[in-house]
Amino acid sequence: MTEPVRCLIRGSINVDEYFQVKNIVRPGETISSDGLEKKTGGKGANQAVAVARAGGIVDLVGAVGEDGVWTRKYLEECGVDVKEVEVVKEPTGRALIQVAQDGENSIVLFKGANFTVLPKKPSFYPRTTHLLLQNEIPLSETLAYIHAAAAADGPNGHRISTTFNPSPMPSDEELKMFPWDKLDWLIVNEGEAEDMYKVLAGDKAETEVAKAETIRGSDSYAHLSAYPIVLKLSSLIPKTNIICTLGAKGVLALVPSLQEESEKGKPHEPIFLPAAKLQGGVAVDTTGAGDTFAGYAVAGLMKLSERQGGGRELTREDVREVLRRCVQAAGMCVEKPGANESIPYGRDVDARLA
Ligand code: ADP
Ligand code: NA
Repeated sequence: MTEPVRCLIRGSINVDEYFQVKNIVRPGETISSDGLEKKTGGKGANQAVAVARAGGIVDLVGAVGEDGVWTRKYLEECGVDVKEVEVVKEPTGRALIQVAQDGENSIVLFKGANFTVLPKKPSFYPRTTHLLLQNEIPLSETLAYIHAAAAADGPNGHRISTTFNPSPMPSDEELKMFPWDKLDWLIVNEGEAEDMYKVLAGDKAETEVAKAETIRGSDSYAHLSAYPIVLKLSSLIPKTNIICTLGAKGVLALVPSLQEESEKGKPHEPIFLPAAKLQGGVAVDTTGAGDTFAGYAVAGLMKLSERQGGGRELTREDVREVLRRCVQAAGMCVEKPGANESIPYGRDVDARLA
């Protein structure tokens, strides 16, 4: 038996400090907090937990300070391989979160150790098939990993598959110089898709993107406001598969790497899945939903590449199968409060899908 495939995440780890307050503090005011909770956060860490809970093997590469060594332990208990999480001189990245009684919150972010440039050059394990990146570390690090993945030979002689969740959004200049032709999968929400389109299209951006000719009759998604935007964005980064999450509406994906799509002249037919039906009917806390989605997406792609041994082309049904599990997992995340701790386990997701 060959060893299972692995995902590498080069990303952020934060200590999230939640201060329970009556009201969010005003300028010049001093208030006391009724409670303080410290939790492991950061998009790199959250997505690593999501890949692990989805059943994937995941190596997290990042940095914490002495004050955050406990987060490494926590992540290890979550099933994340943390042997490449360095302990550095800078303090751990930190989110100072005020949670008011009415549920409103305000956040101060300190980048800390996440912005340490690690001395180690990007490298992958022999079984690394997937690379997953967010935007809470220096972009230079993200770029180094994308280029290294493109240059590396994956286990089947294939390139390592790259996925980028550009959150928080890079600057306009960074978006324009990003090597999109080396990116296999982009995961964005609706607002991010729109921002990206406007920046990348520049002067050519159409204010009225909902041109009738782009709506090709599939009533199941033609009503979605994201559809024309995703279509236009795809035309600007034609090699990248786009997964656009739509909050309570679900997800829309445009996958040019599908073999059937690459046949000349065929229009790109998106894949749409509605959001999961929530137990209790309403979303309790949407924190972590995007990270759950991204982690489950990459774990799903890993499973496909394991099953196929890299030999078979991706089919539309393959992508739908991956997205079905993502939508269910993200739905279960919003049913519970919290970020990391509300990322569901694969077995529970599968039980709800059965
Ligand atoms: P982000 O949190 O990154 O902005 P979204 O808001 O698009 O991303 O949410 C990510 C995914 O979480 C959605 O694609 C959907 O599957 C799920 N989700 C989010 N909000 C809800 C909701 N109210 N009901 C059901 N599913 C939801
Ligand atoms: Na949640």
